[in-house]
Amino acid sequence: MALLPAAGAAAPATPSAAKPCGLRRPSAPPAAALRLGPLFWPWEKVKIGPLSVSPMGFGTWAWGNQLLWGYEESMDNELQDCFNLALRNGINLFDTADSYGTGRLNGQSERLLGKFILECEGTIKSPDDVIIATKFAAYPWRLTSGQFVSACKSSLERLQLDRLGIGQLHWSTANYAPLQERALWDGLVEMYDKGLVSAVGVSNYGPKQLLKIHSYLASKGVPLSSAQVQFSLLSMGDDQMELKTVCDSLGIRLIAYSPLGLGMLTGKYDASNLPKGPRSVLFRQILPGLESLLSCLRRIAEKKGKTMSQVAINWCICKGTIPIPGVKMVRHVEENLGALGWRLSSAEIAELEAAAMAAPKKMVQNVFQTA
Ligand SMILES: NC(=O)c1ccc[n+]([C@@H]2O[C@H](COP(=O)([O-])OP(=O)(O)OC[C@H]3O[C@@H](n4cnc5c(N)ncnc54)[C@H](OP(=O)(O)O)[C@@H]3O)[C@@H](O)[C@H]2O)c1
Repeated sequence: MALLPAAGAAAPATPSAAKPCGLRRPSAPPAAALRLGPLFWPWEKVKIGPLSVSPMGFGTWAWGNQLLWGYEESMDNELQDCFNLALRNGINLFDTADSYGTGRLNGQSERLLGKFILECEGTIKSPDDVIIATKFAAYPWRLTSGQFVSACKSSLERLQLDRLGIGQLHWSTANYAPLQERALWDGLVEMYDKGLVSAVGVSNYGPKQLLKIHSYLASKGVPLSSAQVQFSLLSMGDDQMELKTVCDSLGIRLIAYSPLGLGMLTGKYDASNLPKGPRSVLFRQILPGLESLLSCLRRIAEKKGKTMSQVAINWCICKGTIPIPGVKMVRHVEENLGALGWRLSSAEIAELEAAAMAAPKKMVQNVFQTA
């Protein structure tokens, strides 16, 4: 389904227009889809090491996660539609992890991506058409570089791929098992040297630890290409901004996870309408203080003919990051694609940031986040 350009806007050719991908077209596209602007020009792709990725990717944490995200296997057809629709509209970056999927569904996110890629194979012309960024968990039993390389091979099997786009260390063990961390870094080096990954990245690293791993990998001839961190209007403190500065100085691309604050910035939740499951506990604490940020988002969204989610994602792009909003419904993909093809003005960015800074509560940081 090609998305229509906004009236009066010069639309770049939708990058995927010539790539029918077996998409089951939703019967009635929501009105939001018809308002979406043009997506992006091929030269607006962003470099992550040797890879050229779309200015936004999609996250797949929910794919297989029953506990937090209410996943059921009956959702798989819709998830496949999400994947196909994204691909068809030029999105080539999909973030996953070997720990995604709860209980017996562990690894389900990678397995589903593998299946969807395979079933879409005819339309994938080059490896660059789909870039999988997976994350390897720093489980306590992964103590040697060889065990970390085995983890990478298991991910490749689930994904049915010979080589990954980005192999990322999911978190640093510096805060509680510093000796383990060196083995994990060596594992990243081995994966890269064996050609199992095109690029190496980290996740949940703060600026200080990022400098350390960057210099260690560089000493082994391995470039560190990406750093993934929680980054949104609800997670934009000094730590995130310092990390961005360090990334820029080292040529590392910052990937923004949870750009919608787990859904809080979409505007669809409030104190009387909370999501099901454990998210409600967090939302109950944070949402009551977000009135002025949410009304600022709503005001700017209305003025620009966009939605609140589109504005929240666009803010991440304006800050020079690659956001990876989580999606589990076709309407999420349709709406989030509309975050591309336009930019917030600097006055709007300043207004949003002032409202965000005034919010009494921010997102809780990942327990594994380092300094
Ligand atoms: N490296 C790490 O440690 C780490 C940690 C967290 C996430 N991540 C990655 O980042 C990705 C994104 O983060 P996230 O999933 O935590 O949070 P998010 O992107 O902030 O929020 C995603 C959720 O918001 C809702 N949503 C998305 N688009 C929407 C739309 N247009 N309209 C209304 N609701 C919408 C959906 O949930 P509901 O419909 O249920 O509200 C969706 O699952 C993950 O999938 C994962 O790949 C990485």
